[in-house]
Amino acid sequence: MGVRPKLIIHGGAGSSLKGKGGLTAVRESLHRIVTAVYDFLEKGGSAVEAVILGAKLMEDEPRFNAGTGSVLQSDGQIRMSASLMDGSAQKFSGVINVSRIKNPIEVAQVLQTETDRVLSDLGAAEMVRELQMPIHNPLTDLRLHEWLAERQGNFRSSMAGVVAEDEMASTARRGTIGVVALDQDGKVAAATSTGGKGLERIGRVSDSAMPAGNYATTVAGVSCTGIGEDIIDECLAAKIVIRVTDGMTLAEAMQKSIDESTKNQRDLGAISLDVQGNIVWGKTSEVLLAAYHDGDAVGDTLEWHIEPGVGSV
Ligand code: GLY
Repeated sequence: MGVRPKLIIHGGAGSSLKGKGGLTAVRESLHRIVTAVYDFLEKGGSAVEAVILGAKLMEDEPRFNAGTGSVLQSDGQIRMSASLMDGSAQKFSGVINVSRIKNPIEVAQVLQTETDRVLSDLGAAEMVRELQMPIHNPLTDLRLHEWLAERQGNFRSSMAGVVAEDEMASTARRGTIGVVALDQDGKVAAATSTGGKGLERIGRVSDSAMPAGNYATTVAGVSCTGIGEDIIDECLAAKIVIRVTDGMTLAEAMQKSIDESTKNQRDLGAISLDVQGNIVWGKTSEVLLAAYHDGDAVGDTLEWHIEPGVGSV
């Protein structure tokens, strides 16, 4: 009998979820995906394969800002970023500002075994062509209409006001997706994917394809969501994991890192787990759209409004 698998996923962070319909729909999506990925882990799937599966399922769910359903940048184009960290190999790979594919996490997956493991726009496009990935337009009507509304308002917002659902669109934002898993062999992996902040300057680089936003070792893994610049300034994912490596518990590492982020007035959230099977999350934002499977049952953080706060199972 191996280690009992653990899993946590997120579909972004932001301000309050208004409307039960929105909350119910997001909960249904998160619970469906966490259940499917946990089944895969229970059948012996590896942590790396599980986070790739989870990231793909979330990229394919249009309510989340990653893959299909990504937000548009200032020039009306979609550019997506994703990364994968194999904790047991301590290997990071990522793709920055890639366009016209269905699953950016698949490019990060291929890059795990390459010499050059993080590629940006032009190089990423070349790799996509080499891999003969089918062309896919990730644009949805909702994201297009949101961008057109911003254009009519002469782009007064500094980022897109979207995360997951029509009903939440005007209030919730800063979407990203992330998955952290512990498998039966006691291995940890993390994956994160995003369409970015939305309305950003061409060439802006997201935290989601950096160790600041997605990091794992043999002891713990973290995926972040929120404003990328805030996450980068805190170097949040790597900082939490390194604190655990240096002897803090995961809950202590998350608490200290969220306390620092609060003091520095950051807008962010993070999900994590460790090799002991502890599942911990934290946020400075109003809501964190996360769900987890602790081996017994599925739970989520959708109605958890302690701000800022740290939670665990
Ligand atoms: N955290 C996603 C981004 O800011 O791009």
